[in-house]
Amino acid sequence: FGLVVLVSGTGTLLQTLLDAAAEPGSVFAVRGVVADRDGIAALDRAAAAGVPTVVHPLTKGSDRAAWDAGLTEAVARCDPDLVVSAGFMKLVGATFLARFGGRTINTHPALLPSFPGMHGPRDALAHGVKITGATVFQVDEGVDSGRILAQAAVPVLDGDTEDLLHERIKVAERQLLLDVVRDLATRAAHPAH
Ligand code: GRF
Repeated sequence: FGLVVLVSGTGTLLQTLLDAAAEPGSVFAVRGVVADRDGIAALDRAAAAGVPTVVHPLTKGSDRAAWDAGLTEAVARCDPDLVVSAGFMKLVGATFLARFGGRTINTHPALLPSFPGMHGPRDALAHGVKITGATVFQVDEGVDSGRILAQAAVPVLDGDTEDLLHERIKVAERQLLLDVVRDLATRAAHPAH
């Protein structure tokens, strides 16, 4: 069961998948990593694990549909069973969704449908919620709007800053993502009778 992981940043979610895939008897492998920008730690993490990487930047003024078609081709070359968006900061488009829509998952550092978008932890903190968390969901054409697959609750503590809270959420988010990937890989290996 092969993954392609889409990244834009530090890649701690990717690292969790790389570490698990390296364990003996892992039910999944990471076949490739695609980034929308160069010079990010996630690419170093992939290289250190010997996983092929592709950088597919959305250059200024370039045609978004062309970028989406290029992303789709880059991902298709790895022939993934599942695409995992792990801190990827771009919205995939119609071409990508037509090809991989049913098997692309994303994580979000809040309990969707609350606090979608780029600043989940900051928005939760600003709203004063006492419990927030992480969500793993199926990517659709919207923003953080697809079918929810799993969630984990994370407390907001007194004195939390956005970073403190986001790091606490990411601990839960990493385990939640790994649990979902392992479950999907296991189901693929043993289809329900
Ligand atoms: C994760 O919390 C992800 O949900 C959010 O940004 C963080 C990515 O972290 N979009 P990393 O790049 O995997 O360290």
